Amino acid sequence: MLRSHTCGDLRREHVGSTVTLCGWVSRCRDHGGLAFIDLRDRYGITQVVFHPGEGATLHEEGRSLRSEDVIQVTGVVEARAEKDVNPKLPTGQIDVRVKTLKVLNKSKTPPFEPGTSELPNEELRLRYRFLDLRRPALQQNMILRHKISKLTRDYFDSLGFLEIETPVLGRSTPEGARDYLVPSRVHPGAFFALPQSPQLYKQILMVAGYDRYFQLARCFRDEDLRADRQPEFTQIDVEMAFVEREDILSAIDGLVSHLINGIRGEQIPLPLPRYAYFDVMERYGSDKPDFRFGMELKCIADIAGRCGFGVFKSTIESGKRVRGLCAPQAADKYSRKTIDELTEFVKNYGAQGLAFFRVKDGALDSPIAKFFSAEDQKAIIERFDAKNGDLLFFVASDAKVTSAALAALRSRLGKELKLYDPMQMHAAWVLDFPLVTWNAEENRWDAEHHPFCSVHPDDVELLKTDPGKVRAQSYDLVVNGYESASGSVRIHDPAIQQTVFDLIGVTAEQAESRFGFLLDALRYGAPPHAGIALGLDRWVMMFAGNDNIRDVIAFPKTQKASDLMTGAPSDVDTKQLRELHIKSDVK
Ligand code: AMO
Ligand code: AMP
Repeated sequence: MLRSHTCGDLRREHVGSTVTLCGWVSRCRDHGGLAFIDLRDRYGITQVVFHPGEGATLHEEGRSLRSEDVIQVTGVVEARAEKDVNPKLPTGQIDVRVKTLKVLNKSKTPPFEPGTSELPNEELRLRYRFLDLRRPALQQNMILRHKISKLTRDYFDSLGFLEIETPVLGRSTPEGARDYLVPSRVHPGAFFALPQSPQLYKQILMVAGYDRYFQLARCFRDEDLRADRQPEFTQIDVEMAFVEREDILSAIDGLVSHLINGIRGEQIPLPLPRYAYFDVMERYGSDKPDFRFGMELKCIADIAGRCGFGVFKSTIESGKRVRGLCAPQAADKYSRKTIDELTEFVKNYGAQGLAFFRVKDGALDSPIAKFFSAEDQKAIIERFDAKNGDLLFFVASDAKVTSAALAALRSRLGKELKLYDPMQMHAAWVLDFPLVTWNAEENRWDAEHHPFCSVHPDDVELLKTDPGKVRAQSYDLVVNGYESASGSVRIHDPAIQQTVFDLIGVTAEQAESRFGFLLDALRYGAPPHAGIALGLDRWVMMFAGNDNIRDVIAFPKTQKASDLMTGAPSDVDTKQLRELHIKSDVK
């Protein structure tokens, strides 16, 4: 070993001992006589001191070190004077007085310094990811990610689950995104698809008798990226046989509790709260609301229908909705100008406007308050349990737009008004999603999750008469406004599977050609089974209190799905293309 300790190890009890440390030069401070250097590795920072008393050459060498040089020093641990103790550093009570220095490698002048708190733009960080990954904040994220994976594996192992790897080169899976395709050299014109999830393989593992499966599985989806999405991400993928919905929910409740306890040392009450999809949409306007704060949506159709405000009245007359929310003690915090900004904001979600009222002296105050009788103003205040100083917002439109606009407004106001503790983790289940949603563009029903979800036993009759009302036996785990996991009880009967395919317009021939192998497996003794997948990257992000998924992945892709460090995707040789039977005329 080139070192006796790491840069995070030394404490007061080491004073007097001779140690050897290796690391990167993080910060140099030259105080005329003494040259101080913060030496950094992934365990911490130790201050090392070049003292003129140790010889002029060594002192000069110490003074000439630059950021990100990688060095080895041997020296004696000394206690710092009381006034020099740095309580922010675990090693802040000591220094190492350097006796010998070996420069292991000089660094070019780095484009940014991982040791400082000012960050350059993300593009530069991604281009020089090896420097960015030296930053303590990213190192903490990588350590956290490792811990979460380890806790997950330990948890499932303790319950008798087997981790089984499924192929990366496979057949297209129907998770709804575009596939990444890999051309076959051996089979001209044929392609593998990278898995969007191990869905079909894990169901087949159930048929094959591996009744408790899990895998930390890499998944690939060529879809539009957002702050919480990557084209390549990791799922904690789970499937169980001979189980019902309850068994999956309680297994995952156990995992969540194990993770929160393992990472934060906190106990959370189980079972996790459960909500029905339709209820959540009514109360929050979103199927993944942040449950850390209230500010629930309320409907005022009765009052809107009889008031004198034309927009509200005509909206109700045309069979649509007027819904709103109450921002606590926000009346003085939002000026007319900022409300105009909020109005523009909700227009992004299809709203035509945003009506608002300040609550003042037990009545409503607003340019449109005059259209509401004193009784109706009181009724509105009572419905929201509003207090003087609160600010009420309303959107008049159809169910979809009022939901989307108010849900976005709720998230924004919750953050701006600091209605929750950003480090709190709040996990809750949303159950019974619709089986299918209407795709108006293509004039057909689409599977809401994927086509293998079983139908809620009470809704089987509705399949033929009112498919939009059919609930699936599906569930999402929502944490702090993110969809953190999603799954369902599966169909294990090939006839019911075909009924669902019929509903979403997949003919028997198409089904046979795309997932014939699954349908075939279902005919050879498929046990009842159910499963779920958690988004590992999102979980790490939430535990880190971060909202950028790229900060919890060692080598992430940009929003444009490229890797700025390696330059992938890139051109390839014409020879390679020829071998793959591919002709490209894109320059
Ligand atoms: P689903 O498509 O909902 O379900 O994915 C499961 C979970 O994976 C995470 N996730 C993502 N994370 C980062 N980047 C992405 N692009 C991305 N896409 C999804 C989310 C999501 O909840 N086979 C089913 C699961 C099942 O039914 O068992 C599936 O893949 O946290
Ligand atoms: P107007 O009558 O268009 O001047 O609008 C009066 C107020 O009602 C403004 O604050 C608008 O933002 C708001 N408003 C207009 N259309 C809607 C709507 N569909 N839903 C909610 N508020 C609206």
